[in-house]
Amino acid sequence: MFKSEVYTRRREELHKKVKSGIALFTGNSEAPMNYPDNTYHFRQDSDFLYFFGLDLPGFIGLMDFDSGNDRIFGNDYDMDDIIWMGPQPTVKELALRCGISDTAPTKKLEEIVKDTLSKKRKIHFLPPYRGETKMKLGILLKENPCQMKTLASTDLIKAVISMRSLKEKVEIDEIEKAVDIAYEMHVTAMKMCKHGVREQDIFGTIEGIALSKGGGTSFPIILSINGQTLHNHSHGNLLSKGKMMVTDAGAETNLHYASDITRTTPVGGKFNQKQKDIYEIVLKANTEAIKATRPGISNRDLHFMACKILVTEMKNLGLMKGDADEAVAEGAHALFMPHGLGHMMGLDVHDMEALGENYIGYNEEVKRSDQFGTSFLRFALPYKPGHVFTVEPGCYFIPELIEKWKADRKLTDFINYSKIEGYMSIGGIRIEDNVLITEKGHKLLGKPIPKTVKEVESVCS
Ligand code: GLY
Ligand code: MN
Ligand code: MN
Repeated sequence: MFKSEVYTRRREELHKKVKSGIALFTGNSEAPMNYPDNTYHFRQDSDFLYFFGLDLPGFIGLMDFDSGNDRIFGNDYDMDDIIWMGPQPTVKELALRCGISDTAPTKKLEEIVKDTLSKKRKIHFLPPYRGETKMKLGILLKENPCQMKTLASTDLIKAVISMRSLKEKVEIDEIEKAVDIAYEMHVTAMKMCKHGVREQDIFGTIEGIALSKGGGTSFPIILSINGQTLHNHSHGNLLSKGKMMVTDAGAETNLHYASDITRTTPVGGKFNQKQKDIYEIVLKANTEAIKATRPGISNRDLHFMACKILVTEMKNLGLMKGDADEAVAEGAHALFMPHGLGHMMGLDVHDMEALGENYIGYNEEVKRSDQFGTSFLRFALPYKPGHVFTVEPGCYFIPELIEKWKADRKLTDFINYSKIEGYMSIGGIRIEDNVLITEKGHKLLGKPIPKTVKEVESVCS
């Protein structure tokens, strides 16, 4: 974990932002996989990590906004725990690591919550996303566990988002380390991208890199020759010449900061002409969007800029037609790029989405569009120095979507359906990088990962 001052400072800032009541931060517990003692890889809750840093199951942090006191609830290991899991520092010793001297056994929390409720003081908590946490909070607060999300505190959500959105130097250093792990993963995947190799072999190899260099992957790896399926998590195909492999994979550092990188590699390491044509379009959208990233401009502006590049270049290939601005306004680009340009990244790969996407990327003035494609944009607000974003344009040939639009004669003023058939073998192409917004512009995070046609072909050879 970071030095205790980091967590103390963060909690002090939160105390200033939320005026009264208490907040409960429920750390994650172990989650059973197929029977109680066989658990999933433990991943601590990101908000708990941010304010308390303790990367162990079973703790709850309490902040009292009236008294200014912070407390950790947890149980010391007994002999049975020690026999199976080994010795562990006491809760007191652990709490000191995040600057807290006040601790109590978990049982004590019931009393405190009861007392707080009887005094009609507000109990703030963030929306729980795990069944175990919903149950824990429901039992403590005597509320229906299924209602916990709607009962969560908007004031606390907004305060936490305002802090976690702007990354500190120590956090940026961690994210850069996570990108550097992704560098190893992606270069290895490119080198392995040969005819006859199983997707699973590459998937397992790069997952191993993430585990050997950090805390494992930051999300389930997407690696497929069927990159037209945006989140393709099956890895059962053999790579074959003429196809392209989309690898969307990132790592977590040991402190759980994420990277999220996508590269697309032609099987065998040489682009054919059609692959190159579409690849260069996506690359242009990626590099131009990164170049334009700076404070003041919004992620939505940048999204539309990337979409316009896609349309303009697709027109040059004869796949689209008409006025590019009109095409984007009508949502015609979404046939080829149905997702948003990027999202925030930090302790979560889609940072803070557990707190509610619309709280993160939208507000009273900037509302989410309901147009197909643009509606998937996760963040529409202006960039601020300290934001960390992905920039991830793509171009996909999704047979089912193309057939449906064609049958519906949708947006025929902008789409040349007859031309599309010749490009179906492309599948999908996505190129994703991670950037920090700085005072004057942006910084590409981590060691640059090969992405031009020349660079990719050179790694593969
Ligand atoms: N890894 C999923 C995404 O790029 O958002
Ligand atoms: Mn990704
Ligand atoms: Mn992403």
